[in-house]
Amino acid sequence: MEFSIKTGAPEKQKTGCAVVGVFESRKLTAPAEALDKASKGHITGLLKRGDHDGKAGNTLLLHDVPGVAAERVLLVGLGKAEEFSAKAYRDAMAAAMGALKKTAAKDALVTLTEADIKDCDVRWRLRQAAMIAEEAAYRFDQLKSKKDDNNLLPERLAFTAPAKDATQAEAGLQQGRAIALGMNLTRDLGNLPGNICTPSYLADQARALARQYKLKCQVLERAQMEKLGMGALLSVARGSHQPPKFIVLEYRGGKAKEAPVVLVGKGITFDTGGISIKPAPEMDEMKYDMCGAASVLGSFKACAEMKLPLNLVGLIPTTENMPGGGASRPGDIVTSLSGQTIEILNTDAEGRLILCDALTYAERFNPDCVVDIATLTGACVIALGHVATGLLANNDELAGELLECGQRAHDRAWQLPLWEDYQEQLKSPFADMANIGGRPAGTITAACFLARFAKKYTWAHLDIAGTAWRSGKDKGATGRPVPLLTHFLLKRAGRL
Ligand code: BES
Ligand code: MN
Ligand code: ZN
Repeated sequence: MEFSIKTGAPEKQKTGCAVVGVFESRKLTAPAEALDKASKGHITGLLKRGDHDGKAGNTLLLHDVPGVAAERVLLVGLGKAEEFSAKAYRDAMAAAMGALKKTAAKDALVTLTEADIKDCDVRWRLRQAAMIAEEAAYRFDQLKSKKDDNNLLPERLAFTAPAKDATQAEAGLQQGRAIALGMNLTRDLGNLPGNICTPSYLADQARALARQYKLKCQVLERAQMEKLGMGALLSVARGSHQPPKFIVLEYRGGKAKEAPVVLVGKGITFDTGGISIKPAPEMDEMKYDMCGAASVLGSFKACAEMKLPLNLVGLIPTTENMPGGGASRPGDIVTSLSGQTIEILNTDAEGRLILCDALTYAERFNPDCVVDIATLTGACVIALGHVATGLLANNDELAGELLECGQRAHDRAWQLPLWEDYQEQLKSPFADMANIGGRPAGTITAACFLARFAKKYTWAHLDIAGTAWRSGKDKGATGRPVPLLTHFLLKRAGRL
């Protein structure tokens, strides 16, 4: 999609559709009023008939409004003016995109971006606008032999802003576009099935990204991982015919000596559970078990598109979790890269096994902080549903920063405690620790396991099991938590 900023009078713009907001009840926004004036009261006349009252989410499409250059005018309800919030803005923008899809307009002028919202500047409004538009335009049809060409968004979208805000508006729009590109990559990789999106495929994607944006990319093969001693990661890979990969990406936009932010993404390209095999229903959704990895790649894409002035390292341990003849048996004990030994009581708790070696590997970058992203526990879905990502951290300042950035991005997380008391549950009679801590507090004990490998730096863990994809009729990857992560990077780069 093509985005632009327009600062002129909305009634004079030649466009397939002019989108204007109306508050409850029938209170026109400034752009709507401009169109009403140009049409000599045509819009207020229509509103009086009662077809549209400004209720949130309501839309009404008008054709050939006299005195207006646009072919169509779309009225979008904004709800009560005094209650207009960030959420109402996002909902109105999404409703507008939904209605635009049903028109044949080839371009549109969206004026909703002019609305004032408390604590949300023009940069935020345009950033969100671009993200919501791309979100609405997204489809995953690369594996369908016939594409459906109904319901397409206009190719070109212009958003309006007051002339004095044009520079900030343009900056926000470009950020939103970059974040959306990152999210689209994350969604595509997530939606690809396990027979296509293998560890080797992810490595190829990382290499392609590195070529496109001049990043450093190194892919460690099984032999190199063996030499390093990544016994935990390798134990998961032994049940599969697909070779495991350990992807290292480096983006250097900051000063040479500046400590990097390290992102670690779980890259299980399919999780059968291994010998502790999962039940059949919905097992297909375990192709999404690499969404942490995909969110790292998506965040790198966005960061490189925005040319952020910071240093970023991405680590992606990636393998399948299959029940092959070489697979771990419950009770097996393996030695991690850190030297700590692990009793594998459940082979389905494999995410932490590949992440722990990546967390140890992260030490060599002397990170400013490390954030890992993983579809780690079903328990997180039970605790927080599909709304909030689970957040656990060994540093409350970092946790606070991530929570705040999630709010701003509308990609929210919620913190759970990482108290020492929970470590009890990981005790093993035979090894330094077990890889499971029983049913209670499953998300917390999983993070407690990881915390044992993240002692040397500031670290946070995002459990995205409930937020990385949707099930049911709208099944598909969401692109989360790329908005949260990219807002965090924007903040760190002083660009938020
Ligand atoms: N990838 C799953 C977590 C998961 C399950 C995410 C369902 C989304 C939906 C993970 O590898 C896993 O299997 N975790 C186990 C851990 C348990 C064995 C301690 C789980 O949550 O059941
Ligand atoms: Mn599992
Ligand atoms: Zn898993």
